[in-house]
Amino acid sequence: MQFTLRDFRREDFQTLWRIDQSCFPPGISYSRPELSAYIRRPGAFTVVAEEALQSGDAKPLAIGFIVVEASRRGIGHIITIDVLPAARRSGVGSRLLVAIEERLQNAGVTRVFLETAVDNQAALSFYKRHDYFLVKTVPRYYSNGLDAFVLEKDLLSLAKAANLQR
Ligand SMILES: CC(C)(COP(=O)(O)OP(=O)(O)OC[C@H]1O[C@@H](n2cnc3c(N)ncnc32)[C@H](O)[C@@H]1OP(=O)(O)O)[C@@H](O)C(=O)NCCC(=O)NCCS
Repeated sequence: MQFTLRDFRREDFQTLWRIDQSCFPPGISYSRPELSAYIRRPGAFTVVAEEALQSGDAKPLAIGFIVVEASRRGIGHIITIDVLPAARRSGVGSRLLVAIEERLQNAGVTRVFLETAVDNQAALSFYKRHDYFLVKTVPRYYSNGLDAFVLEKDLLSLAKAANLQR
């Protein structure tokens, strides 16, 4: 699958909200006001993956996105990462994740964390593959009563390892 990454534009909002609805069950997916508030949070940025134009397509189709925030204390937080079911296992999620990790590192962020439902096997395998480790469990984190795992990645040690390899 051919795709490119770009920054969020205001006109993407409705498409991204629909993608989020298709990615998460009720109780975990965001309402429009929630998603909008997260995207507009101070220090937040959103990267969109869109499929390369095929002949006959009017405009490229968004197939995934990631919303992240960076605090002034040098901590990154992945608010959500969503890839349309039909576009999964093609590297879209990985490209989005690597892109925001690089951006966070360039902004001086040293570690990044996220929450994911304890029963989300795909996400747990995905984050394990990307060197995130389990920090703690938060009981009843989601509004449907499900617990969340907090996962974290140390971006500083990654940067050190990359420098050693040079
Ligand atoms: C988690 C998610 C973002 C992964 O996106 P993706 O584009 O499919 O990920 P990639 O293709 O880059 O996968 C990279 C690796 O992660 C692991 N992985 C991803 N999905 C997996 C799955 N369903 N089962 C097992 N391993 C999986 C694999 O190691 C995979 O490498 P491989 O395909 O070579 O085996 C996607 O499944 C998704 O949007 N899920 C719904 C929303 C969600 O749960 N978001 C995360 C919680 S915030």
